[in-house]
Amino acid sequence: SDSYPDLKRDSRFKKVTKEDVEHFRSVLGSSEAAILDGVTNETGEEDFESFNSDWMRKYRGQCRLVLKPETTEQVSKVLKYCNEQMLAVVPQGGNSGLVGGSVPVFDEIIINLSRMNQVRSFDDVSGVLVAESGVILQQADEHVAKQSHIFPLDLGAKGTCQIGANVATNAGGLRLLRYGSMHGNILGLECVLPDGTIMDDLSKLRKNNTGYDLKQLFIGGEGTIGIITAISILCPQRSNAVNVAYFGLESYEKVMEAFKEAKKQLGEILSAFELMDAASQSLYHKASGAKLPLEAEHPFYCLIETSGSNTEHDSEKLNAFLEHVMSEEIVSDGVMAESETQVQSLWACREGISEAGQHWGGVYKYDLSIPLPELYELVEDARKMFEGNGLMSAEDESFPVVDVVGYGHMGDSNLHLNVAVRRYDKEVEKALEPWVYEWVAKRQGSISAEHGLGIAKKAYIGYSRSETMIKLMKQVKGLFDPNGIMNPYKYI
Ligand code: FAD
Ligand code: MLT
Ligand code: ZN
Repeated sequence: SDSYPDLKRDSRFKKVTKEDVEHFRSVLGSSEAAILDGVTNETGEEDFESFNSDWMRKYRGQCRLVLKPETTEQVSKVLKYCNEQMLAVVPQGGNSGLVGGSVPVFDEIIINLSRMNQVRSFDDVSGVLVAESGVILQQADEHVAKQSHIFPLDLGAKGTCQIGANVATNAGGLRLLRYGSMHGNILGLECVLPDGTIMDDLSKLRKNNTGYDLKQLFIGGEGTIGIITAISILCPQRSNAVNVAYFGLESYEKVMEAFKEAKKQLGEILSAFELMDAASQSLYHKASGAKLPLEAEHPFYCLIETSGSNTEHDSEKLNAFLEHVMSEEIVSDGVMAESETQVQSLWACREGISEAGQHWGGVYKYDLSIPLPELYELVEDARKMFEGNGLMSAEDESFPVVDVVGYGHMGDSNLHLNVAVRRYDKEVEKALEPWVYEWVAKRQGSISAEHGLGIAKKAYIGYSRSETMIKLMKQVKGLFDPNGIMNPYKYI
């Protein structure tokens, strides 16, 4: 594969034949909605582009067959056949993943879940939603919003990413601080194993201590041990009072103080505490043309969201908090959203950074857990490194790196280090890897906080997990997927 000069296609995997396609047609029907076939007909490469190429346009496979099952039984029949025939597969949701996990490496068959998009049930007493994997995150949230509930996950890709894939990546997002992780909110899963077995564990129970909790292995499993076809998830009550504030701070020390104060004073209503540095906001401004909320530039910015049940009470609290942090000079300047439109535009300053990162051509993304006191030092050290090695210039287009930016989920000790580049460049990559991973391992952090391993981080798992654990993980993989057909070349 052009994208992976160092990798060789595994010769144990069969190449898709005309007979295979015929078999898949017999299972899924022949409609274009169900099968995109470039094996037995002339479907052009451009039709496969959105399936073969990832969101960052960094990873590209050469798949010539996309299957879009509509039912769990179809997924089961497809996988069983693939397993018997040694056909490698890549499960795919909204293809917004950031580690190259959702696109093939070579010619693996893509099993795209977008047609499995039915809500099966929602109970507004318990808050349990049971829905198929292909439901788009935003649509799932809108569905439960009708009955005053909220999907316990929110992220910038909500308009395209799918809830089954959110589980498969153990996505974290913007409100983990408040609602916790998928490992706690998922009550049950329906999964199809590579041999076609359907593991029906769509439990709606909060408590169930009856043996190993197998569903947990699929949460964050990134499609390497089976395909999640439906999920059962606990949705909390939706808060009717949501407030958002955005403020500027002088130093990272002040950011930490503000976070401490926010927990102290806003505790039970705090639903997000996000960090953005000056470079990330300037990048967002340049890429989107949007005006930034504060007139003057500050080295750091934070976005705070509160969600509670009493508008007056909550704004009073947030106002008192803002007054306190301003009078104590923890915060230099701030604004509070006064309308839904303003809420959106403040959030856009945070959520828009991902897309802005690509503005100049490409972006190297690192998604790291780092103890809070040291979290921002990584951005400073990375900047110093690029200033020293002559790879970075904001103006001169002959330099590959444009800027280094830092932002992330401060409330979860999760930093996003982004290196915005004019083009993907081996020298930049060599300067960053394993340098970033060594930096993080020295501080007992994690080299992948929420985006997963995919192909991007596969070689580096040893920086965050012991030999013993990696060995056990490989045994788990072998147990579920002895032929290795599920999302090969990735993960471990
Ligand atoms: P895909 O990209 O299609 O797939 C992701 C992985 O899951 C692949 O390995 C794939 O093989 C596997 N997979 C997909 N569906 C299934 C299934 N049904 N069963 C088994 N395996 C499956 N991530 C965060 O954690 N937090 C964020 O805040 C965040 N913000 C983002 C913002 C933007 C703008 C973008 C582009 C991405 C962001 N992401 C974030 C990353 C990404 O959106 C998440 O990883 C998301 O969960 C992926 O969903 P998807 O439907 O796009 O999955
Ligand atoms: C985010 O928090 O914005 C996402 O994880 C995506 C990204 O890292 O850009
Ligand atoms: Zn994130």
